[in-house]
Amino acid sequence: MITLKEAEILKDVHSDIRGELFIEALKMEKEGQKVLKLNTGNPGSFGFGMPDSIKNALVSNIDKSVPYCDYRGMLQAREAICRFHNEGGIKKLTPDDIFITNGVSEGVSMLTTAFINPGDEVLLPTPCYPLWSNCVKIAGGVPVYYKCDEEKDWNPSVGDIESKITSKTKAVLIINPNNPTGALYSEDIVKEIVEVAEKNNLVIFSDEIYDRLLYDGKVFTSTGKFAKEDTVVVTTNGLSKSHSVCGFRCGWMAISGNEKAKAGLINGIMKIATMRLCSNAIMQLAIPEALSDMEYPHSLTQPGGRLYQQRKAVKEALAKAKHISAVTNMGAFYMFAKVDFKGKEVTDDRKFCMDLLHSKKILVMPGSCFNYETPDHFRIVMLPEEDIIGEAIEKIDDFFDEYINK
Ligand SMILES: Cc1ncc(COP(=O)(O)O)c(C=O)c1O
Repeated sequence: MITLKEAEILKDVHSDIRGELFIEALKMEKEGQKVLKLNTGNPGSFGFGMPDSIKNALVSNIDKSVPYCDYRGMLQAREAICRFHNEGGIKKLTPDDIFITNGVSEGVSMLTTAFINPGDEVLLPTPCYPLWSNCVKIAGGVPVYYKCDEEKDWNPSVGDIESKITSKTKAVLIINPNNPTGALYSEDIVKEIVEVAEKNNLVIFSDEIYDRLLYDGKVFTSTGKFAKEDTVVVTTNGLSKSHSVCGFRCGWMAISGNEKAKAGLINGIMKIATMRLCSNAIMQLAIPEALSDMEYPHSLTQPGGRLYQQRKAVKEALAKAKHISAVTNMGAFYMFAKVDFKGKEVTDDRKFCMDLLHSKKILVMPGSCFNYETPDHFRIVMLPEEDIIGEAIEKIDDFFDEYINK
């Protein structure tokens, strides 16, 4: 019998969010223990229902989604996406520049496969949502991490980005608002990153999936708005988070910039898009309605809205915590919390998360899952109801009290 091995290229690929800690949590649940699983940003699993705008569009149009559709996506959906980004300030975008994908996840995989050659470097933030690092690696590329600075509300360090550009650098990624930090970047910093990319002929990837989930009156500006007309910017976005429909797998890529410059990239993506025929057609029927329904995400993040109240509960619990602190998120529904170990040497953040899971039955993801080097951070997912998430923060703080004094 031969022993099958995974492909070499996968050796550094980690799907930690559904990895060892998650598997242990499932095992504990199977044994009858109740675990609060805070590993994924999946609103539907915490009782967030889809908006009526989406439900109605699906019910009344379902028959139209039976056949395969255009490999780039249904025209009326791409037109709606195009309008959305044009209104957001992205220039020179037509429906032909839009690819609808099975979530942003599939889009990123298509993008990196279509564009990256072995050894190409891509600048990614640290901490970073792992999809991007994994896709770069699978395409044979090399993720090079630039620092986001906790002291500066987790804004990227432009100096660090510049210092890491080499002759092999092909692209720079901005995730704004950010997962795992919840940061909404300063416009000046985004402008500076765009300038650096333009000076060095880099393609810009801008993951904006949390752009409609903002707090405290903050306003989002799409990276593409700051780019020159000819600069190639690949903006990724979707409905998973803004409209709580992760399971429907609905995302897209909008590729703006000079026609000639982006032609090869679009051609590569087209090859992959045609190979997989089309993305889930039924959800595309709801894109125009969803993009005209900004009331849904807005209502969640305003005082009285679920996300607002849950974030408030986390802030209140953190204010009382002795060992954990976090920069308040201005977007999305995450905070990247720092643990003060009071001088105790801690070198393994996966271990303290595993110990926390066993002790308090709460599953969180350690910073190293997000390619964050210092082992003293973990991500808080703020999706449970306010009393549950507030209590969870208290329990986590109690755990660290016991851990440090052990
Ligand atoms: C920053 C970021 N990008 C992309 C995704 C993937 O989203 P989708 O459901 O559209 O595949 C996520 C999911 O958590 C995310 O946090």
